[in-house]
Amino acid sequence: MKAAVYEGPRTVTVKDVPDAKIEHPCDIIVQITTTNICGSDLHMYEGRTSFEPGRTLGHENLGKVVEVGSAVRKVKVGQYVVLPFNIACGFCKQCERGLTNYCLTMQPEPSAAGAAYGFADMGPYQGGQAEYLRVPYGDFNALRLGEDAEERQLDYVMLADIFPTGYHATEMAGVKPGDQTVIFGAGPVGLMAAYSAVLRGAGRVWSVDFHSDRLRKAEEIGAIPIDIREQDPSDVVKSATLGLGADNGCECVGYQAHDPQGREDASMTMNGLIDCVRFTGAIGVVGVFVPEDPGGKDVQGELEAQGKVPIDFGKLWFKGQRIGTGQAPVKRYNRMLRDLIAGGKAEPSWVVSHELGLDEAPSGYEHFDRRDEGWTKVVLHPDGSR
Ligand SMILES: NC(=O)c1ccc[n+]([C@@H]2O[C@H](COP(=O)([O-])OP(=O)(O)OC[C@H]3O[C@@H](n4cnc5c(N)ncnc54)[C@H](O)[C@@H]3O)[C@@H](O)[C@H]2O)c1
Ligand SMILES: [Zn+2]
Ligand SMILES: [Zn+2]
Repeated sequence: MKAAVYEGPRTVTVKDVPDAKIEHPCDIIVQITTTNICGSDLHMYEGRTSFEPGRTLGHENLGKVVEVGSAVRKVKVGQYVVLPFNIACGFCKQCERGLTNYCLTMQPEPSAAGAAYGFADMGPYQGGQAEYLRVPYGDFNALRLGEDAEERQLDYVMLADIFPTGYHATEMAGVKPGDQTVIFGAGPVGLMAAYSAVLRGAGRVWSVDFHSDRLRKAEEIGAIPIDIREQDPSDVVKSATLGLGADNGCECVGYQAHDPQGREDASMTMNGLIDCVRFTGAIGVVGVFVPEDPGGKDVQGELEAQGKVPIDFGKLWFKGQRIGTGQAPVKRYNRMLRDLIAGGKAEPSWVVSHELGLDEAPSGYEHFDRRDEGWTKVVLHPDGSR
């Protein structure tokens, strides 16, 4: 079968790889019809993680079940399913508590937790930017979709990651009706966090970035854009809130945060949020930070390369703020968000800018990585439907 394989920094090739096959009676095989490129893939694509050359990328996957293992009871061949990017067992101590983002069974390293498709340090699993994907514990991991699945794939595929992840950021930040919420990053995840804040009834939402096309997207759902090339987020937010600051905030950028000139500083967005959010407010951090950044020494510094990010902890403590972090537990939200989509109350496909065939993955990566004008979210269709 064909797959988009990471070959080394900024090199993805579409080539033949061994077919996905049932390896355990609880596995299912899904023919991938829609799969996205994510900002998380870009950390790997740029060589800024330990992701191994030769592995298939892709953790935002939707498709049709083509084979089920002998122990699979619920999922049937022919059904459309969307797969959380987290791979979880459903029966470990963490899964029992709903923490499928930190499953102990699927992570082979005993001192670590959490697994995902085609992801650095999250187990050996291949990604879904391929014709077929092996899904462990199919009954637990696959979320079945309704009759509108085929024509609404662009909405439902966002349930694999960015819609639940954006929602999780607002959950960790405790966004309530009427709240004033500031979101750093207007990439796909930041846009989904802004969208989720709006769905949760926030009174005012600001989106902070320096890409005009992305900020325009945020404006489409009623967020107030803050372009850091022209405005200081803290000035804007404080002057609108009697100097107090936003009720809460979301970090949707991660450790490769940079200024508009491209100079990276992993502490930039966290310090921006600590400043913008009021005393006792909460901050949800879904942007990825890593314990080791192979390229960090040259671009940022010795400390940052070891994941030591110099944030304004004194100010955070003094303000009594709380921070939530980590990979999103997609399963906690995907069923509810699916039903919002099915009921016509949410349409996350609004972020999609490009639909490409699998063969076009290398150019999709190039454009999305450069954050080229208008390349907001790239969707691949390995089934040849594009
Ligand atoms: N926690 C999770 O479960 C989870 C899931 C998906 C993605 N992520 C992470 O979320 C982050 C965002 O993902 P994405 O797909 O939106 O990626 P993206 O790279 O497309 O978007 C990031 C955006 O942040 C902006 N940005 C960079 N520096 C900034 C700064 N200093 N201030 C304001 N904005 C700045 C960029 O211009 C860009 O628009 C990534 O780190 C990704 O790995 C985490
Ligand atoms: Zn993703
Ligand atoms: Zn588990």
